[in-house]
Amino acid sequence: NMPTQTLNNGKRIPLIGLGTWKSKAGEIKQATLHALRAGYRHIDCAEYYANEHEIGQALQIVFAEGVVKREDVFLTSKLWNNHHGRESVKPAVQKILRDLKVNHLDLLLIHWPVTGNVGPTVQPSIRETWQAMEDLVSEGLVHSIGVSNFSTKKVDDILAYAKVKPAVLQVEVHPYWRQDSLLTYCQEKGIHVTAYSPLGSPDSSTMFQRKGPKLMDDPVLASVASKLNKSPAQCLIRWGIQHGTSILPKSVNEGRIKSNLDVIDWELPREDYESLCGLVTQERMVNGSFWLNPSGPYKTLEDLWDVPH
Ligand code: A2P
Repeated sequence: NMPTQTLNNGKRIPLIGLGTWKSKAGEIKQATLHALRAGYRHIDCAEYYANEHEIGQALQIVFAEGVVKREDVFLTSKLWNNHHGRESVKPAVQKILRDLKVNHLDLLLIHWPVTGNVGPTVQPSIRETWQAMEDLVSEGLVHSIGVSNFSTKKVDDILAYAKVKPAVLQVEVHPYWRQDSLLTYCQEKGIHVTAYSPLGSPDSSTMFQRKGPKLMDDPVLASVASKLNKSPAQCLIRWGIQHGTSILPKSVNEGRIKSNLDVIDWELPREDYESLCGLVTQERMVNGSFWLNPSGPYKTLEDLWDVPH
């Protein structure tokens, strides 16, 4: 039985979700089928990933098989940067719903606090986009709304005017990017945190030309895993759950999809959890440098993340 966390609006989010970023059309349909048949009840999607139509095909199959009912699966999607603003939000969500072949999303996130505009502030404003998302909650097209890749300061701005509070903040979290202060902030504000790239996104390190050590090769992780007779990935997923987040391991491989779910009925002993909390390497994988623009709202990483880098 998949554990869940109750959000600030009373809805429940299953703690493990299938990540689908970089899952290619041609492989994601099968991966989604494996996941839902193995017991996953949460799929993390985004229009940017350009594979939602295949996820929709897989959903149709499992719904028809009777393996899972719509109300038992938690579906997240994310509004891309070019769909901010009053006029764009609803059509974008309607397209997502057509691709996924469902009538509502469980969670809609703003993917990035970025629209690609030039000028000192984000335009259309986050406020305008948020209010359009609130309207979708009233209309029943989405049950919960939240943001991704937002700093605590940017979330605070939303809380100042939100009629519907953000239910979820989805950001990169793993033992190499622990985000302690962000987690504390979210706990105080009643916002649930979902961890992306929980394995340190091993398939992204070349894309981002990151030169630091790889989380999955960490020697402390290796020793914890061999002591507990678990895989390094299972220890990282377990760590994320014990860290208070829901977690989105991505895989398109049937065996790894199944083994990544095999983390429900055991725990990391406290000393092992803590040794994973003590890893000294702290570095984002997805650092957002691709959004920096000398004539845009974010000129430096500090403008984007609101903390020193
Ligand atoms: P694959 O899809 O071939 O399984 P993250 O969730 O941090 O973004 O990491 C995803 C990457 O980790 C993908 O390259 C995925 O490859 C790989 N991966 C997923 N599960 C495991 C696992 N249990 N062991 C090793 N690698 C894994």
